[in-house]
This record gives sequence, C-alpha cells and structure tokens, in this order.
Amino acid sequence: MSEIKCVGIITSGNDAPGMNSAIRAVTRSAIYNGLRVKAVYRGYKGLIDGDIVEFKTQNVSNIIQQGGTILKSSPSQDFFSPEGRKKAFENIQREEIDALIVIGGDGTIHGARIFAQEYDIPSIAIPATIDNNLNGTDTTIGYDTALNTIMQCVDKIRDTATSHERLFFVEVLGDDAGFLALNGAIASGCEEAIIPSAQIETDQLTNFIENGFRKTKSSSIVLVAANENSGGAMYYADLVKQHHPELDVRVSILGHLQRGGQPTAHDRITASRMGSASIEAVMKGLPNVMIGIDNDEIVHVPFSRAVREPRKIDPAMLEILHNVSI
Ligand code: F6P
Repeated sequence: MSEIKCVGIITSGNDAPGMNSAIRAVTRSAIYNGLRVKAVYRGYKGLIDGDIVEFKTQNVSNIIQQGGTILKSSPSQDFFSPEGRKKAFENIQREEIDALIVIGGDGTIHGARIFAQEYDIPSIAIPATIDNNLNGTDTTIGYDTALNTIMQCVDKIRDTATSHERLFFVEVLGDDAGFLALNGAIASGCEEAIIPSAQIETDQLTNFIENGFRKTKSSSIVLVAANENSGGAMYYADLVKQHHPELDVRVSILGHLQRGGQPTAHDRITASRMGSASIEAVMKGLPNVMIGIDNDEIVHVPFSRAVREPRKIDPAMLEILHNVSI
C-alpha cells in the first residue's frame, strides 16, 4: 500500500448531532500526525462535483458544540451509478487524496462499501446516525443527543397528560430499528413503546389500556417508532379512539427536532474517540472498516457486518420497560 499523505473527509446521508465534533477530531488528529486534510462538501455528491477544499486546524474551531454538519450533506443517486463513482475517483486522484474518512449512517457505509469494491482507495467509516442501527458498535454518534431530546420533550408532554388525564401517542424517529422509541420510553417513564421489530397487535394495545393504563394510572404515554410500514402515532390513536371512546387521546409528532441541537457530552466524546481512531486506522493501513465502540473499546468492523441487516433490539429491554411501567 502506498504511503498516506492526505485524507479526504465527508459527511453523507442524514445529519446527526456530533458530526461536527467528529469532523473536528478527524481534521485535528490527521494534522497532528502530519497528514493533509481535504474536506468534501455535500456528501458523495460533492465528491462527484469536485466540491473539495483543504482544511487547516482553524477550519474546525468552535464547531464541537454545533449540531448538523458544517460540511453539509445531500443524497446522491449519482454515486450509486458506475459513472458517478468513476467521476468521484477521478476527483480523488486529482486532489491527491490517499484515503477517505466517511461519516454517516447505513446508506453512507453502503456507498463506501460499493466504492471500495471498485477502486483501490482505503475508506474508514465513522458511524453517525440518530437511529443507532449499525451492527458492531454499541452506539452511533447522535443517538445519545436524540434520546435526550426525546426525554426532555416527553417530560414536558407528561405535564399535560397528567393534568388532563390523557393518553398520549408520541411519534419518534429511528427508522426500522426502534432504539429511540424503546430507550426513549424507558428514559422518560412511558407505559409502552410500539417498535417495528415487536409490532403491538390490537389486542395487546387493548390489554395495555385495560390492565396497565386504566387500572393503575389516570394518564399514559406511548412512544411510537415512525417507519414506513406502520401508520405511526395517528394510526394507533385512531384505533384506540374506536374501541375506547371514553379515553381522552392525543397525538404528538416530534419529527426533525430530534435530529438537531447541541450534541451531548457523550456524543462529543464518542465523536472525538472515533475521529481519532479513524486516523490511527488509516495510518495502520486498515482498509474499509467502520470504527465502532464495543464494551468501551475501539473496534474495527468490516463494512459487510456493519450494514448486513438493521441492528436488533434486545427483547430484554422491552421486558424492562413493561416491568417498570406497571
Ligand atoms: O436516519 C435518520 C432519520 O431521521 C430516521 O430516523 C428517519 O426515518 C429518516 O432519517 C428521516 O429522513 P428525512 O430527513 O429524509 O425525512
């Protein structure tokens, strides 16, 4: 493998709080180790368009606390065509980039995996998504911040739920994984979480209302994971209204406010560790792996494992939610 002198850095796919902390860590660790840094704007699209500038250490000053990504992000269908990837590789050669650091979620790593199969350029991925749905890492950058945002929102909604003795269905993001819904529910003391991998049937919902909600409590909050195969919070609220017209049911959809805001300390530290580990991996000549954290240790996860299938929730956590919400 040829000597690495310059790394390219990209944020791709959906933004996540802590991406900027990762950009800062990658840039500073690279420069500390004598490497040059080329920042690619607007994700893989920018790689194809040649939207690339050199970064010095001051380019990443005062960004550790900012949500979103200073490099911007955009979907790029073109990167999923051979012509698009060819153009991207030509720009990489023109800019004399020897290795890529890609920061993003499953779509980003999927793109990096295809690219690695065609072109001889090492890529290291840093997992950043609020969904926490990648295999081989205990956490992804942005997940902790989104979880805390959900907790703060539900704490506020609970004031109204309690005062008016209402049943709230609160819809949260998280895609097919359901981690935000499940752990958000545990963290905010919700009574139930409706998640894609453990879809609640109508009779379970009725059971929950009659045994959990009505018998011991006069208000209740259910978190619903938004995903394209479910009707979301509105669907469950309508279902309950049909069967229990006596209940005062409301819906709240948290939406993209869960993706924004200042990253938590946990996400900033995770981003700093992973960013620094990505440069270490490049310098050791490790090609095409995702940086993960497993049992508090940095690990290197092959792309194929990271995105093979959405990470599964631990059913024991659903059990805990049910135990502690009686
Ligand atoms: O991957 C992050 C995420 O917020 C998912 O939880 C959600 O399903 C999706 O992105 C929403 O994407 P968009 O911003 O395109 O609506």
